[in-house]
Amino acid sequence: MSGVQPSATDTSGAQSTDGAHTAYGHDDRNDDVLVDVRGVKVHFPIKRGVIFDKTVGHVYAVDGIDLQIRRGETYGLVGESGSGKSTLGRAILNLEPPTEGSVEFDGIDIASLQGEELRRKRQDIQMVFQDPMGSLDPRQSVESLLLEGMKAHGLTKDGTEASRRLRELLSAVGLPVAALKKYPHEFSGGQRQRIGIARALSVNPKLIVADEPVSALDVSVQAQVINLLEDLQEEFGLTYLVVAHDLAVVRHISDRIGVMYLGGIVEEAPADALYATPLHPYTRALMSAVPVPDPLVEDRRERIILTGDLPSPSNPPSGCRFHTRCPWRQETKCDTERPVLRVPDIPGVAADHRVACHWAEQIESGEIQPHEVTAEFVEQHAGGGDGSLMGPATAVEAMVHHPGNTAGGGGGGG
Ligand SMILES: Nc1ncnc2c1ncn2[C@@H]1O[C@H](COP(=O)(O)OP(=O)(O)OP(=O)(O)O)[C@@H](O)[C@H]1O
Ligand code: SF4
Ligand SMILES: [Mg+2]
Repeated sequence: MSGVQPSATDTSGAQSTDGAHTAYGHDDRNDDVLVDVRGVKVHFPIKRGVIFDKTVGHVYAVDGIDLQIRRGETYGLVGESGSGKSTLGRAILNLEPPTEGSVEFDGIDIASLQGEELRRKRQDIQMVFQDPMGSLDPRQSVESLLLEGMKAHGLTKDGTEASRRLRELLSAVGLPVAALKKYPHEFSGGQRQRIGIARALSVNPKLIVADEPVSALDVSVQAQVINLLEDLQEEFGLTYLVVAHDLAVVRHISDRIGVMYLGGIVEEAPADALYATPLHPYTRALMSAVPVPDPLVEDRRERIILTGDLPSPSNPPSGCRFHTRCPWRQETKCDTERPVLRVPDIPGVAADHRVACHWAEQIESGEIQPHEVTAEFVEQHAGGGDGSLMGPATAVEAMVHHPGNTAGGGGGGG
């Protein structure tokens, strides 16, 4: 490990509330922000005991996130299973009230809303889920599924208008009118996802949170559904938060991408910039797993193989949460100080590209070289023994990079 000094712009402490304003170099609230997430944490208590419900620990599912989604844009959120993507999505809808921090939607603090007001605001935010079969009631016809939300929001009072709208919705998602009388099991996976999208659209939302919208579909169908989402965005002026564990899925649809690791955002950039110059070691690893169509580039590109599971979110590593798996980890700072999301001082990197790594500059310049990662035992939290809740506890964390790997060479996936 080298004694290289971290960047002067680097500050210690958690990535948190004020990071977003300062790091951008301008006040992002001047942009047309539809969703404004500030310092959001969602911690789930771990309870034990038969008689007394004693809290013995917490799952730090979302742990200090700042994120702004501008009107009309698509924000892609990627990260491994268990990194907290869905929990953040649910916090934005206030389905999972944040333990700390705030979510403003269209200028209104979601947490301040109750009853009828909250219900009306929820009309503006709709979800599309990964598993359309699981989220569509098999006993309801497509017509009844689509009318359900419309009824709840008083959009079916005029019968003629409602049936016109049903036909319009089906045509928008590329299904025939005859689909109205059918049931979910009569459709293919891709068609069911179209029904799920039509249902989300039925109440005229402003924001659609699509949680792994194509993960359950065949690759050929994935592209069709992604294209459909793009067309609908243009037609209805929608804003999207698209959640996926796969960078390839969000690549073409997203304007900006946020990469999540253990409850925090480790890198955020416009999609093109993220693919051209991934700066965070974790993003580099994710990116190196995305195949490149050009066989020559594919042969030469850097491969960083991420092995081992995500450490348990009930006992996240100290300092930089990625330090147990990071091939660029340094003796100073990495284990003790949580890096903030900041604009690095790297020529050619724009002010909207932020990274939470103490050593981003030195890694990019090649001053710091990757090294073998020694297996490390991460102790399970005292209360974190519930495997079903936490996912696998980390006994061995190892990140092995390809022998032909060249240091600081970017993801090579661009
Ligand atoms: N209601 C809950 N109570 C306790 N722990 C929870 C709850 N919901 C989620 N978690 C835990 O929080 C962590 C983050 O979960 P989350 O579902 O947000 O991850 P994710 O990134 O969406 O993963 P995936 O890609 O598998 O969907 C996980 O460890 C999960 O077990
Ligand atoms: S170099 Fe250090 S701060 Fe940067 S990602 Fe690796 S462990 Fe984290
Ligand atoms: Mg999820």
